[in-house]
Amino acid sequence: MSLLKIEDLYASIGDEKILNGLSLEINAGETHAIMGPNGSGKSTLSYVLSGREDYDVTKGSVLLDKKELLDIEADERSKLGLFLAFQYPIELPGVTGMTFLRTIINSSRIAKNLPELEGIELVKLIRKKAAELEISQDMLKRFVNVGFSGGEKKRFEILQMALLDPKIAVLDETDSGLDVDALRIVGKGVTNLKSKDRGMLVITHYQRLLDHIIPDFVHIMVKGKIIQSGGPDLAKLVEKEGYKSFLNGN
Ligand SMILES: Nc1ncnc2c1ncn2[C@@H]1O[C@H](COP(=O)(O)OP(=O)(O)OP(=O)(O)O)[C@@H](O)[C@H]1O
Ligand SMILES: [Mg+2]
Repeated sequence: MSLLKIEDLYASIGDEKILNGLSLEINAGETHAIMGPNGSGKSTLSYVLSGREDYDVTKGSVLLDKKELLDIEADERSKLGLFLAFQYPIELPGVTGMTFLRTIINSSRIAKNLPELEGIELVKLIRKKAAELEISQDMLKRFVNVGFSGGEKKRFEILQMALLDPKIAVLDETDSGLDVDALRIVGKGVTNLKSKDRGMLVITHYQRLLDHIIPDFVHIMVKGKIIQSGGPDLAKLVEKEGYKSFLNGN
């Protein structure tokens, strides 16, 4: 079943054309990876999916569960089950991790017509998932992402994803800044979240993350569109040879 269908998507900022006819379909249960040179538009794709306003979408469509995402506001998109872990997670001074997580869990439950969780039940759930990602109780008392190390920010993103149970998760460079142990923890955390009902899109520069999160499909993005798709071996080819052979003629 098709969960996310991106078709012929064009997006720009001012005169700068960044996405140039990108198409990609993710079915339930599938994990896709996007690799591509710096500046090819990978993060732009995640921002456009999230509904960030500074991008002009000039053409194309994005269906999530057959609903057109481009017509609806950012918060509605997340209620439909879209989750994005950004390359540069934002800081929320004044909002503790625990408060933030409690709020997002219950707003997503309301959107799914599930009863809200209360007090101790909610705290227990958060603590359990946090422990699986080796996030300490002390970290949950701190303001979201304020002063977090790069690796801590990435783990906190995966914790949000684990608690929100999204239909489609887009992870932009979740491996950047992770030490080898954190990479294993995050890789395991994401792999545990694979499910027959969920689709995942993992944006990465390096094969090493894909040793932990084994993708079904790998796509190469150059200048705002996908120029080649294949299986996990495609990531190994990129690791070995770089993008030279993909760039000829593009
Ligand atoms: N606000 C902006 N104004 C002008 N150009 C922008 C803006 N945002 C993005 N771009 C340009 O769009 C292009 C794509 O950027 P994007 O961040 O999507 O690339 P990326 O594939 O994620 O790169 P990386 O691998 O380095 O993360 C870049 O050339 C970038 O400079
Ligand atoms: Mg990027």
